[in-house]
Amino acid sequence: MNTEEHAERFNKVAHRYATNRFPGRSQCIQKVLQLLHPQPEDVILDVGCGPGIQLVDLAPSIRTGFGVDPAASMIERAKSEASAYPNLHFLEGSAEHLPEAVRCGSVNKIYSNYVIHHLPNTHKREAIRGLAKLLPPGGLFILGDMMFNDDPGKHTDIFDYVGYVPENDSPAYVSDLEEMFSESNLIPKIHVLNPLVAVILGQKI
Ligand SMILES: C[S@@+](CC[C@H](N)C(=O)[O-])C[C@H]1O[C@@H](n2cnc3c(N)ncnc32)[C@H](O)[C@@H]1O
Repeated sequence: MNTEEHAERFNKVAHRYATNRFPGRSQCIQKVLQLLHPQPEDVILDVGCGPGIQLVDLAPSIRTGFGVDPAASMIERAKSEASAYPNLHFLEGSAEHLPEAVRCGSVNKIYSNYVIHHLPNTHKREAIRGLAKLLPPGGLFILGDMMFNDDPGKHTDIFDYVGYVPENDSPAYVSDLEEMFSESNLIPKIHVLNPLVAVILGQKI
């Protein structure tokens, strides 16, 4: 499935989408947000923001938030959820093709939850490289997602818990993502949540 096909799939469910539909996805965003340590001067980008709920919660604690998603209905819902926060900006785009406003936005922290597994590995590498380039030295990229640190075939019992659907999803191995971070000048620190989900905290050199 390519980005347009994923966007179409998410357009259909945008009105009822909830991060906590899968306990593993909910656990993952909680770890991402814990590592984010929002500060009043932060300019934060959420890649694949869906309905933007996490940025709305962060809005009072940060300077600016950008949410990017290829699904137009997700962006529409995010704008309506965020109507009280003029410091939030929701834009159509993707991890591989970021809107100009984001590229020029002086972003110092990026996070992404349960998105990168939608991209084929070559696109993951390209996207991580492009996102890392946005960050200043010391900036953070926090990537939470389904990613394997063991043979997924041994863990079919937690597929429903983490929301893994092999026909739709293409998670990478943690070690491959760790290498993509390093080659993009991000020093990676891995937080394993279970054999199929982890969070990588990357600090820009
Ligand atoms: C499982 S949802 C996660 C939404 C939100 N981050 C969360 O934690 O609830 C995946 C989101 O990624 C978006 N998406 C799919 N392909 C993408 C891409 N190439 N770049 C950015 N976002 C993408 C989808 O439209 C969808 O909103």
